[in-house]
Amino acid sequence: MSTTRKRLFIKTYGCQMNVYDSERMKDVLTPLGYESTDTPDGADLVILNTCHIREKAAEKVYSELGRLRPLKEDKAASGGMTIAVAGCVAQAEGAEIMKRAPVVDLVVGPQTYHKLPELIAKAHRAKGEALDTEFEVEDKFDRLGNDRQVEGYSAFVTVQEGCDKFCTFCVVPYTRGAEWSRPVDQIVGEVRALAAKGIREVTLLGQNVNAFHGAAPSGREADGPWGLGQLVRHIALIGGIERIRFTTSHPRDMDEDLIQAFADTPKLMPYFHLPVQSGSDKILKAMNRQHEAADYLTTIARLREVRPDIAISGDMIVGFPGETDADFEATMELVREVNYASCFSFKYSKRPGTPGAAMFNQVDEAVKGERLAALQALLDEQQIAFNTSMIGKTLPVLFEKPGRLEGQLHGRSPYLQSVHAHAPAELIGQIAEVEIEGASRNALSGRLIGPKRSAA
Ligand code: SAH
Ligand code: SF4
Ligand code: F3S
Repeated sequence: MSTTRKRLFIKTYGCQMNVYDSERMKDVLTPLGYESTDTPDGADLVILNTCHIREKAAEKVYSELGRLRPLKEDKAASGGMTIAVAGCVAQAEGAEIMKRAPVVDLVVGPQTYHKLPELIAKAHRAKGEALDTEFEVEDKFDRLGNDRQVEGYSAFVTVQEGCDKFCTFCVVPYTRGAEWSRPVDQIVGEVRALAAKGIREVTLLGQNVNAFHGAAPSGREADGPWGLGQLVRHIALIGGIERIRFTTSHPRDMDEDLIQAFADTPKLMPYFHLPVQSGSDKILKAMNRQHEAADYLTTIARLREVRPDIAISGDMIVGFPGETDADFEATMELVREVNYASCFSFKYSKRPGTPGAAMFNQVDEAVKGERLAALQALLDEQQIAFNTSMIGKTLPVLFEKPGRLEGQLHGRSPYLQSVHAHAPAELIGQIAEVEIEGASRNALSGRLIGPKRSAA
């Protein structure tokens, strides 16, 4: 194994699971002498960790590859540049990528990052062979191990991969494969190692995280697989871990035990991402979401009952095939009723190979644009109102780094809001009480009241 220093540039697109995977790719490559840089210029290895969720996301990869071509030519005389495409576009398009963009040396799917060293060696020998998009998710986690290089106080931990839901708009079941959960012991091992490195907050990740059903910890196998509520309570016992979050959940998989975890586990933050996509039952059915708007509202009401300080975030799609003005109005109505702290919203994008792309009643782009603007205006209002409602409250803030102004620190509230406050640098990495004095759409500011021991 060669250990001469080489420069590695990774660009990450898409969801948090890709962020996690990019970190794990760095971990795999460090022993080979790769060091991260923040520019592709002069890098020995460039990895684009891609997203296929919407057309724009997938197309970005090809424009980035176009920009990389001259950099690769410049580097030819000094050792060369290897270009890898990883992630969900790699999984979806495979070898086609190399045909369309010959600048690419290797293609690696989301389940085979542990094989990167072999693939790089192969790419250096013969380009055509360097393709690996198998689904071997168990092997991936077994081989990645727990030794992660982490910075800061918050980390992602993938606990579940894949999706069996097959929403008719979505590529994830095709790019990430079938639902699979990591065993509890393996997850706990990774979280313990993170806590020992100073991590205070973990976000458990999965494309369908609340479908989690991981093998019970050793000695408790007879219990059968554990659900996410059990996993959260178990992680709350790990010394050093003060805050727990998880994302992304599906309304269909909200069981009572998970709802109860919000009530009985103070370290589980009172901020919950539960995408619904539409407020119209007709559209939910066409999307194959397998629930109605009323079921979603009942779940939200139940969560608010058991955890009154809980705030909700979500995802919405406008302009799914067949969406009429009345269907869109049902979405607006649901948004008014839920009153989101934050919500992502997207125009429906036709994805190759999904049932939605073949539906005949596609919505006009201009109509999608108008609906998105109306929805976003309402969501912005709700987000500003939510942030403003924090003024006068005292929130526990996990301080992460120095702020923009001298003497200021930057941290996060339980609701993931950015908080700025004057505070001594020794509070970095700790949770302290801040009385909120100012709020904008994206951030809060406040006055330090004192250190705090508990989570929320
Ligand atoms: N597993 C999550 C979502 C993963 S994708 C869930 O079930 O909610 C993240 C978000 O992208 C989705 O919630 C959806 O709002 C959006 N999205 C997915 N496919 C899309 C498409 N074809 N067009 C527009 N938005 C899409
Ligand atoms: Fe996509 Fe639906 Fe699976 Fe979420 S639940 S990843 S939206 S298919
Ligand atoms: Fe994108 Fe793949 Fe995540 S398609 S949203 S990177 S699972």
